[in-house]
Amino acid sequence: MCGIVGYIGKRQCAPILLDGLGRLAYRGYDSAGMAVLTEGKIQVIKAKGRLSVLEERTKNGTTVEGSIGIAHTRWATHGEPSDVNSHPHISQSGKFAVVHNGIIENYRKLRTFLTEKGFTFMSETDTEVFAHLIEYYYNGNLVETMWKVMRKIEGSYALGVLCDDYPDSFLAVRKDSPLIVGIGEGENFIASDVPAILKYTKKVCYLEDNEIVVLKKDNVTVYNADGETIDKEICTINWDVASAEKGGYEHFMFKEIMEQSKALQDTIHPRIKDGEIVLDNIVLTSEYLNSVDKIFIVACGSAYHVGVAGKYVIESLVGKPTEVDLASEFRYRNPIVTDRTLIIIISQSGETADTIAAMREAKRLGGRVISIVNVVGSTIAKESDEVLYTWAGPEIAVATTKAYSTQLACMYLLGIYMSQKLGKLSDAEQKALVAAVKALPEAVEKILSCRENVQFMASRFYNSKNIFFIGRNLDYAVALEGSLKLKEISYIHSEAYAAGELKHGTISLIEDGTLVVAPATGERLFDKMLSNIREVKARGAVVMAIAAEGNTAIAEEADYCLYVPKTHPLLTPSLTVIPMQLFGYYVASIKGCDIDKPRNLAKSVTVE
Ligand code: AGP
Repeated sequence: MCGIVGYIGKRQCAPILLDGLGRLAYRGYDSAGMAVLTEGKIQVIKAKGRLSVLEERTKNGTTVEGSIGIAHTRWATHGEPSDVNSHPHISQSGKFAVVHNGIIENYRKLRTFLTEKGFTFMSETDTEVFAHLIEYYYNGNLVETMWKVMRKIEGSYALGVLCDDYPDSFLAVRKDSPLIVGIGEGENFIASDVPAILKYTKKVCYLEDNEIVVLKKDNVTVYNADGETIDKEICTINWDVASAEKGGYEHFMFKEIMEQSKALQDTIHPRIKDGEIVLDNIVLTSEYLNSVDKIFIVACGSAYHVGVAGKYVIESLVGKPTEVDLASEFRYRNPIVTDRTLIIIISQSGETADTIAAMREAKRLGGRVISIVNVVGSTIAKESDEVLYTWAGPEIAVATTKAYSTQLACMYLLGIYMSQKLGKLSDAEQKALVAAVKALPEAVEKILSCRENVQFMASRFYNSKNIFFIGRNLDYAVALEGSLKLKEISYIHSEAYAAGELKHGTISLIEDGTLVVAPATGERLFDKMLSNIREVKARGAVVMAIAAEGNTAIAEEADYCLYVPKTHPLLTPSLTVIPMQLFGYYVASIKGCDIDKPRNLAKSVTVE
């Protein structure tokens, strides 16, 4: 989704803005632009296409004078990607320039209103409404004007505003869209995400909804929704620029796949003490847990797939009815939530619009929300009742890998924690499970070290038109993720099916040579899975199974088999997913796809 960077200080701002936009490119974009205040006048440079267009046009920013500016990468929502639809947008007189991430829902009404007032629109975007509306209501005081404008706007926005009346400051505001403020020495910043400014400062504060910030080079002033100035907590980011760089790897996705053992270790190990799970920020008493009659797990995309696995894990460990739901469905389907409902929200970014809305709906209905989040200070982390962080570090590639793995780990930790409170497991069961969770990082490392086997499979099947993934129970949950990984970056059509469901329709799509990926780690349903493998093979499929080491029976049925270390039956997705991630990655790599920025996708889906 769109990325915003803003700078004020002593340095020439254009190179800093371009560098920041480059570090937000992972969010996905189709055009870019910047507005810089030069000698009291706003200069706008913007273009459709890659950032390199802007870089070439401005010689990496060096030809643009000025030390106060705002910049933007656009991911089109209203109007096609084009020069004119790119941000910044300027007001009729050129006095104001705005960059915006979000969606203005009542923009048609406002556009009509402004047109009747004599404003001429240059673009098809909703954002241009912001620029003209600010000009329409401007009374010489930009903060006051913004309050008025915000009352008229319905929708979500992170907004940066430059005004030529204010040569030594600029303004920003947010509602339902991420925006951080970076505090430097004699310079200050705004950005959609930390990597954009980390080179210059590690001190940030997180804006809340409806807060306005006015940035000058030596100070920032934040106003709350009542117009009062407030002191914001300043947080120090505990990771560095190198964590958000490729570090010699060809793609962020591959780097992040390879970082999974370490990420799992950081997420799991500090939370195991004397064979028990200790979750510092979470206080679920046995009394409360006994009162819970329903658990929801709500998320989008890969995080939802974690939820599908989580349902099996929680039901088996905690013994409470657990329902997993897509956030975009949950938020609109009148879910039955009471004060006895526990809602687990999962999100890497903590900024996914549908997930935020689902969380707010769950809270409104009286439920208690625990979130599993990667980005510290994100909206979901802040608004949920309790948060369990996945210590995955920054994830840049659009296709999630280490965030998925650490979310899954958090799901195990939470499940065991709840079962401890309820006394559901015997000492021996608890010991075995905790030991198996603790051993996951090492097992993942072992799979990664055998990645050439997966690379070979990718070289064999990269030309496929359709690839199916089938599995049962937890193998089904991980099949969903394997299929998504493959399709989102390689553009090969792929579907995941519960293996028992295949013959209710989808099996008609199997023809000679169709690849079927069959995770078959579940011991209880292994024989049934073998039958499903035989069924697809009988119709011409080529089967690539993924099974636990030592399983020889599978080799007799499948055409190919990738092995993962044996683990506790509830933990198999953590291992099975690794060859699937690698398979998607290698297929996309052989096909020459833009792996870190797949077409049409954005890292953080901050609009509905
Ligand atoms: C998966 O590779 C995608 N990046 C996507 O499905 C993602 O998991 C989804 O958009 C949810 O994002 P979140 O975890 O930041 O909420």
